[in-house]
Amino acid sequence: MDSNIAGKVVVITGASSGLGEATARHLSALGATVVLGARRADRLHALADALIAAGGKALAVPTDVTDAAQVQRLVDTAVQTYGRIDVMLNNAGLMPHSPLDRRKIDDWNRTIDVNIKGVLYGIAAALPYMQAQQSGHIINVSSVAGHKVRAGGAVYSATKFAVRVISEGLRQEVKPYNIRTTVISPGAVDTELPGSITEPDIAQNMHEYYDRIAIPADAFARAVAFAMSQPDDVDVNEILFRPTRQES
Ligand SMILES: NC(=O)c1ccc[n+]([C@@H]2O[C@H](COP(=O)([O-])OP(=O)(O)OC[C@H]3O[C@@H](n4cnc5c(N)ncnc54)[C@H](OP(=O)(O)O)[C@@H]3O)[C@@H](O)[C@H]2O)c1
Repeated sequence: MDSNIAGKVVVITGASSGLGEATARHLSALGATVVLGARRADRLHALADALIAAGGKALAVPTDVTDAAQVQRLVDTAVQTYGRIDVMLNNAGLMPHSPLDRRKIDDWNRTIDVNIKGVLYGIAAALPYMQAQQSGHIINVSSVAGHKVRAGGAVYSATKFAVRVISEGLRQEVKPYNIRTTVISPGAVDTELPGSITEPDIAQNMHEYYDRIAIPADAFARAVAFAMSQPDDVDVNEILFRPTRQES
């Protein structure tokens, strides 16, 4: 059966760990070509090497998503190397939770730069190619925190609400170009994300919470594969999932 995944060229930001890495592994095993972006070049190259050794096609392009020119270079490199871009997975993100009265302004700026601007830069880079191709799929990563806000998570939630809003606007705008859009909102998944919290007490609480309830990252990879693998005339716009044991 045609999975609608094999042979596709998939650009993944935040591919050096967590959800992005798991998705690269899963899609590569299903026959996709993966182009990997993130800042940690050693991790990206090791992953690309492992996927190639397993018979896949993969390319590492060290990228900081807060720099629009670097994101453009990531996507340009994918198209120059493989001739097209079928999927843009805007996944890079961080979650430095803290109450607003701790005034972590550097954290707020980084979160907005990566979680919102990084997604916009990914869209800006991929869209012209997909419009010209008259095909493509842009997948953005929100969160359960993009559906509800909790104390300590205001800025992170704001960025993840923004990703949903951007995704819905994009969905409406790309109809004439046969481009699909999906926003995926995971609950707690076992990744390095709690490591982005800069306040030690909050980091410790979050690590304990994740240790208790988080599920493996391949849950997210399967959600990406589900959206990609639909027939071209089926546009899965939203997926929200949680660990079964996650209450809120
Ligand atoms: N894990 C969860 O429970 C969960 C739940 C809901 C949503 N999410 C979302 O899932 C996405 C992936 O996070 P994760 O859970 O997989 O966490 P993770 O393991 O910490 O991965 C985050 C990825 O983002 C990359 N990244 C961070 N800043 C970057 C930058 N400036 N430029 C390029 N890449 C950057 C990191 O790579 P480098 O450090 O190498 O750059 C890393 O590959 C995020 O958007 C997160 O908000 C996660």
